[in-house]
Order: sequence, then C-alpha cells, then structure tokens
Amino acid sequence: MNLTSFSFPTQTRFGPGALSELPTDLERLKIRRPLVVTDSGLLNTAAYGALAAALGAAEKDKQWWLYSGVHPNPIERDVIEPAALFREQSCDGVIAFGGGSPLDAGKAARILVKRPNFKLADFYSEPDWTGLPPLVCIPTTAGTGSEVGRSSVITLETTQRKAVLFHPELLARLVILDPELTVGLPPKLTAATGADALTHCIESYTCPQFHPMCDGIALEGIHLVIDALPRAYRDGGDIEARGRMLVAAAMGAVAFQKDLGVVHSLAHPLSTLCGLHHGLANALCLVAGMRFCAARKPGLYRRVGIACGLELMRVSDAEADRQTIALIAEFLAGLGLNQRLREHGVRPDQLEALVAQAVDDPCHKTNAVPVAAEDFRQLYLEVI
Ligand SMILES: NC(=O)c1ccc[n+]([C@@H]2O[C@H](COP(=O)([O-])OP(=O)(O)OC[C@H]3O[C@@H](n4cnc5c(N)ncnc54)[C@H](O)[C@@H]3O)[C@@H](O)[C@H]2O)c1
Ligand SMILES: [Zn+2]
Repeated sequence: MNLTSFSFPTQTRFGPGALSELPTDLERLKIRRPLVVTDSGLLNTAAYGALAAALGAAEKDKQWWLYSGVHPNPIERDVIEPAALFREQSCDGVIAFGGGSPLDAGKAARILVKRPNFKLADFYSEPDWTGLPPLVCIPTTAGTGSEVGRSSVITLETTQRKAVLFHPELLARLVILDPELTVGLPPKLTAATGADALTHCIESYTCPQFHPMCDGIALEGIHLVIDALPRAYRDGGDIEARGRMLVAAAMGAVAFQKDLGVVHSLAHPLSTLCGLHHGLANALCLVAGMRFCAARKPGLYRRVGIACGLELMRVSDAEADRQTIALIAEFLAGLGLNQRLREHGVRPDQLEALVAQAVDDPCHKTNAVPVAAEDFRQLYLEVI
C-alpha cells in the first residue's frame, strides 16, 4: 500500500444569509482593503448586490476595490490585471466571488501579487508559495468546488491549454456557501454546473488511488446531486436544494484531490478549442466515458448506482453498470443535457486537435482504466 496524506482544512460558513457575516470575517482575517475579483456577468445580479451591501456595511473604516474582467475559462490576463490593481491600491486580501472562473482567477492573482512579472507557465519551478495574501471564496455557482480546492485552472498564453496550478497555499482562508447567492443562476447554468459537481464525484470515486475518505465524500456528494439538482433546476428559488447543491459541489472538489479521469480529459479541450462551458462539456461526455470504463472494468459503478438510490447488491457487475449508466443518462436528459457536441458548435474537423489535447491532459492518467489516443478518438466520435 502506498503512503498518502489526507487533509480537509478549509473553514466553511454555510447557510442562507451566511454572507451577512462577511464584515466580521474580514475583521478576523485582518483584511481591511479587499479586492473583489469577479466577472462582468455578475455585476447586475442580486448576488453581487448582496456582496456590495455586505461590504458597504463595513465601509466606514474600510475600502474595497473591484476587478470584474474575468473571462469564462480564464486566461492569463484575468490573473495579471487584478494582481496589478491589488498592488496599485495596496490591497490586503482577495474576495473571489462568482463561479469557478472568478474563483480560479482570484486565487491565482495572489501568485502575481507575491511575484510581479512572474510567468504562470513557470509555476512549478517556484517551490515557495507561502505568504500569499489571504483569500475568501464565495461561490455563486454550485459546480466546480474551486472554493475548497488547491488548484486554479488558467489557460496559458504560451500553450493555449488549460494549466492546473496546484499548491496548498492557494487554498482559501474562508469559504462562504450562501445558497441565496445561487438563486438567480439560470436553469441551463444550474444544470451544467451541477453536472460538473456530479462528474467530480463519479470520477474521483472511480479513480483507483487509495483514499477512502474521499470515496465516502464522493458517494454522499452523488446522493446529494441526484436529489437536489433536478429541484434546483426546476425551481431556482428552492433554497434547500440550492444549499445541498453548494455543499455537494464543495464535496466534489474535496473528493477530487484524489483525482479525476477520462471525462475531464475529454472536456478540457472542448473548452479551450471550442469554447464550451466546462460543466456542459463534462455533461455531454459523461455517459460515453462511463460506458468506456465499465466495459473494461465491470462493476466499477455499482456503488455509484447505489448512491443514486438503485438496488444493486444482488445483480451482476455488468447489470449494475448498465442500470447506473442508464440512470445517469436519464438524469442528464431530464436536465436538458443530452445533445450532441455539434449542437454546441463543435465541428468534426476539430476532432484531431481535440484528441491531441485530450491525450496531453493529465486527468486521464488517474482514470479507472488506461486511455489511448484511439480511445479518445472513438469517444469523441460517439458524442460529436
Ligand atoms: N479550480 C478547480 O478546482 C476547478 C474545478 C472545476 C472547474 N474549474 C474551472 O471553473 C470554470 C467554470 O466555472 P463555472 O462552471 O462555475 O462557470 P463560470 O464561472 O465560467 O460562470 C459561468 C457564467 O455564469 C454566470 N454566473 C455565475 N454565477 C451566477 C449567478 N449567481 N447568477 C447569474 N449568473 C451567474 C457568470 O457570470 C458566467 O457568465 C472553468 O474555467 C473550469 O476550468 C476549476
Ligand atoms: Zn470539473
């Protein structure tokens, strides 16, 4: 058995209205001049209004600044610009507010606060990332779980590929999970981001590393998503379902410190080359990826199916996988996530470029079964 280490350290404040505690939290963290990092799509939402009100309540003795230029699937500029603003205004902490894109950009901006002019491509050549400014993460989507993760996913200028910058020092000091902030998330994004959380839980549970703590968290995350996502999709104002989804998303990210698999390697190039939303890309590839793995490792999804509520203890491995994959396919279809990639603008002539990037993507290295270039080609052909 290999040596491994476990750690689930992020302080998390959860519940409707949890955001109202922010001024006290900032005081405790000694953040007096926070920089809010977000995207422009959020500025007109009630969620952002609530953040501004919470910060405004503390305005007498504090000031705060705003960077709202983060792109979906953030690029290096989304990290460079807020870091420059942070330094210009002598800020002393970052509040990353939004979906995975602003959370990842806000997390990584602290790297360039510590080391201006540093090239993110050289991230792994610098061993010492201690002393980054403190970070508060406040998600407004329930999907990526980036708020509790140690990584930041940024498309690098030089490679035009998504790089995963991974370091424990990137962790937030505090996470606020306030379901009221996700109420305004439209149904399509609710479905796509929720499918990302589901994919994190399924892929981390089925990847072969020894990590029973992550396995338990992943299975409970699956259970929560199967119950809550359809409710949040149908009725955005269902606070209970929204809350469960926020927790499930955070659990998915805690679980995937164990690792991910083939579906994420299929999805990453679909974002960088074709601009697909990350959760949508996962959703459209998930069933094909599960079929591929189950065919080579029968019984892989039995406990995933049980977590979804299926009675699978007495059926064969093949039958357990069949029923589980059928349930997931029906579940995604019920959320409107059952189109072909071409319906989202992916062209057959992009196939080889997609395959080349998928092969290079690190996620499939920890997949339940090995994945070769030809497998990626067949998988894309199945869903294109
Ligand atoms: N760091 C990690 O561990 C990790 C894990 C998975 C994914 N990711 C990354 O996260 C990114 C995807 O994040 P995402 O799926 O959360 O999407 P996103 O952050 O790109 O947001 C998608 C859209 O939703 C809008 N939005 C967000 N919250 C809203 C709200 N409450 N109301 C209305 N609109 C709202 C945004 O304005 C944006 O237009 C990708 O870049 C992906 O690579 C990171
Ligand atoms: Zn993901």
